[in-house]
Amino acid sequence: METISEKECLEIITAPLRLKKEGFRHLWVGYSGYGKTVDNAKLIRYIEDTVAKCFLISTDQKNRIVEYPGEQIVLVDQLGQIEGQSAVIRGAAMTKAADDEIDFEALAKRIWNIARTTTVPVVLAIDELFDACSSSQTWGPLERGKRKSEMDRLYRQGRVLGISLAVTTQVPQEIPRLAYAMSDTVCLFRMDGREIDYLHRLGVIVGEDAEILQGFSVGEFLLCQKGQPKKRCSFRVDR
Ligand SMILES: Nc1ncnc2c1ncn2[C@@H]1O[C@H](COP(=O)(O)OP(=O)(O)O)[C@@H](O)[C@H]1O
Ligand SMILES: [Mg+2]
Repeated sequence: METISEKECLEIITAPLRLKKEGFRHLWVGYSGYGKTVDNAKLIRYIEDTVAKCFLISTDQKNRIVEYPGEQIVLVDQLGQIEGQSAVIRGAAMTKAADDEIDFEALAKRIWNIARTTTVPVVLAIDELFDACSSSQTWGPLERGKRKSEMDRLYRQGRVLGISLAVTTQVPQEIPRLAYAMSDTVCLFRMDGREIDYLHRLGVIVGEDAEILQGFSVGEFLLCQKGQPKKRCSFRVDR
């Protein structure tokens, strides 16, 4: 299996944005402590530094591994007030209301509106996509009276409005299958057992992949891209 550099990997993940000015969907999957959050932060930095000035919205609320220049910490409701600015925002929490759950449906709706009015690409980074689910494989909770999820709509239709999704999960079985189906790229970190069985059933993992994933150390991952052979990669970590 081919091994690619950090730069090559980042170029592949951001290809829709770089080449077609469309949003990309990327998923980091793997057990806790193997580098998903760190690598997602690298991806965001790469976009800012190399690809395009973006409207970045991050819901990374637990451990502030990365701080973005110019970031504003706002609640979902306040997001509308900084529309049009190319600033970095964190979703809810990181405030006194840190235990508040982020209302992802409200967030997705605001992002949709921001993308319609802003001229720069919008990137939503969600650390732990299960936070956007009400139960296993179900988006929500949905707004009262609504049948369809705004998160679902972002995944299905946000691309043409230039909305990108860069998300992580450590429980592949619990996030909606749509997140795999709609992702341009998926990176797989160390996993075994049930998680591998599940991804095998989804067709994300085939052949020798399972064995490779079980042998991975911190930082190592497989890049999957539709219709392309998998590639091995590991990002440099600055200490
Ligand atoms: N490529 C790497 N090499 C060495 N250490 C790494 C690498 N990537 C991540 N780490 C370290 O592993 C730890 C867990 O990373 P993190 O991104 O928080 O994992 P996850 O989000 O998958 O739980 C961090 O302390 C980070 O510095
Ligand atoms: Mg993490």
